[in-house]
Amino acid sequence: MGKGSGYGKVILLGEHFVVHGAPGIVSAIDSTTDAEVKKAVKGINIRDERKTAKGYSEEKRLQQIESIERMLKTMGIDSKIGLDIWIGGTLPGFSGLGASAASSVAIARAIAQELGMLVSDKKINQVAYEAEKAYAGNPSGIDNTAATYGGLMWFKKDVAGGPDKIEKLHVRRPIEIVIGSTGKVANTKAMVEGVAERKKKNPAKYDAIFKQAENLAVAGRKALEAYDLKKVGDLMNENHRLLQEIGVSSKELDMLVDLARKQGAFGAKLTGGGGGGCMVALTPGKELQGKVLSSIKSLGFEVLSTKIGAERY
Ligand code: MEV
Repeated sequence: MGKGSGYGKVILLGEHFVVHGAPGIVSAIDSTTDAEVKKAVKGINIRDERKTAKGYSEEKRLQQIESIERMLKTMGIDSKIGLDIWIGGTLPGFSGLGASAASSVAIARAIAQELGMLVSDKKINQVAYEAEKAYAGNPSGIDNTAATYGGLMWFKKDVAGGPDKIEKLHVRRPIEIVIGSTGKVANTKAMVEGVAERKKKNPAKYDAIFKQAENLAVAGRKALEAYDLKKVGDLMNENHRLLQEIGVSSKELDMLVDLARKQGAFGAKLTGGGGGGCMVALTPGKELQGKVLSSIKSLGFEVLSTKIGAERY
């Protein structure tokens, strides 16, 4: 049997803008999707045992099948191969946490191991990028890169098709965060396409917003490296405003963001594709983290608490 894992992620700054070549800052989280693969007589048989938001598996089923077909093609494996695939792990299937990319990385690694193929991380990342096209249409590559390598990183897609810029970032101490899920499943592909369409219709407005997003990421990197967490929080708030302007927030996301800020979070924003899914709040220190976490939980929303910038993942 072959086994593999991929990390979940939060985007601190830059989702959607990264698709069009602006830089973004992403961090892996300490939850993974795990996969086990065994050769079977025929068919691709998937047993998906992840904890998910209601309706997640049904909404993603066709995209999941397409992603595995893309994966096999990119790995040079006969599409008629029979495989039993189990998917589980600690990363919940909530939109926004990179669950699709984490599962693609996990499955690609497990397939490679089962078939005795030696596949580098670079190749796994490329395979997961091709698979991610099933879920995101025109992905930037930020999710599969975080899922493959882990860590806190700077990511900039080369829109001309050259190698993306990926740099590991280091912070003085890991930083506590809280993730709140709206419980709404979102279609990343539709969200990414929506932004591209609006950008095309209204280039002047969107170019100005995209320039601001780029400046935010540059300032965010400096602030993280200087461990100026107030500043990082302010930039996340500003980033959320830009995401609202390009039409990817929702009333549930705005509500969770407001709640986290009212409880003292240094900053809060939607994370990932938006339109539902999750928000991330920067909550340095155990006490603040606990306060923000319980306020969200008390309203009946699912929450996760973890740290970014830890060297372990
Ligand atoms: C999704 O986690 C992030 C998006 O920017 C899509 C992508 O970069 O592939 C919305």
